[in-house]
Amino acid sequence: MNALTDSRTRRTTVVAPPPMPSGWFVVARARDLRPGSQTTIRRFGTELVLFRTATGRLALVEATCPHLGAHLGHGGKVVGEHLECPFHGFRFQTDGRCASGGRDTPAPRGARLGSLPLAEREGLVFAWHGAAGEGPTYDLPDLGLADGPRVRLRRAVVDAHPQDTTENSVDLAHFAYVHGYDEVRVVEPLRREGEVLTIAYAATRPTGPFGTPISFTYRVRVTGLGVSQVHVEVDGLATSDLLVLASPVDTGRSEVWLGARVQLARRALPIPGLRTLVDELASSIMASILLNDVHQDARIWSHKRWVHPPRLSAADGPIGPYRAWAGRFYPTPDDGQVASCAEVTPCR
Ligand code: FES
Ligand SMILES: [Fe+2]
Repeated sequence: MNALTDSRTRRTTVVAPPPMPSGWFVVARARDLRPGSQTTIRRFGTELVLFRTATGRLALVEATCPHLGAHLGHGGKVVGEHLECPFHGFRFQTDGRCASGGRDTPAPRGARLGSLPLAEREGLVFAWHGAAGEGPTYDLPDLGLADGPRVRLRRAVVDAHPQDTTENSVDLAHFAYVHGYDEVRVVEPLRREGEVLTIAYAATRPTGPFGTPISFTYRVRVTGLGVSQVHVEVDGLATSDLLVLASPVDTGRSEVWLGARVQLARRALPIPGLRTLVDELASSIMASILLNDVHQDARIWSHKRWVHPPRLSAADGPIGPYRAWAGRFYPTPDDGQVASCAEVTPCR
């Protein structure tokens, strides 16, 4: 810890960011991976290879071959149900076990790749990361992508931890300063049930070329640190479902996948065919607004440090309780900066 500031009572220090959390994190769109194909991704500070076998089974394994260290994503290929190393032809199963050494010889003892549990949900592929090596401890929620108008997806790479990106939902004060919201107030208090956290608030926001203020309510449901779902109701004119999926790449760097779908209310546009067209256009615009919001946040995230204890104000929203809840996704609860909870009022 580096000393940062002194006060008469306690010292605030810059501390290390939280470690990689446990949880389900998005890694790919299912349709981008055809049978017999593979791709390299970086997640959880490690090079990984995601592949789909000839019969359609998906697998995510470490990229480094246990034989002599070749990268399976650079020249490796899927052969039937196996991933084959480009160097000497060792073949690996979807669970990471080595099925055969080069030229169909038996696999050397103990030769295997680490593998991560995967789940396909509504066209997206999620990987489970266990911070202490544990298997999945909760289920992914229904994302609500299957029915209704198409969800528009955008992606951004940000210098931020998933705890930062998720904390945005409860950091009420930043909505005005970073995003230009007005009159932000909590309409349903924060609730924590297991790995799920919910909160709802109302606000106004200038929109369109003339900055016309619109009023909306924002219902947030967070599952783990990798899945945030937001249901927005705009002045009775439209509803929008937003997805914010943070996925840790390295310490301090994450991919954020953003999804948006807008549905105009019948009274806003009574002609169904035209409404569908406008929904499509509005979904695309909303996805871009969401991406712009994330870029506004990213300017802060990329330079911020983790300070402890944070000097929270009563206007901040329930950041202390959020951090106490986030502690459940680390090997020890204090990794989520839980001790700060004692510093704030109200903190339940
Ligand atoms: S390094 Fe992979 S088979 Fe030799
Ligand atoms: Fe934000």
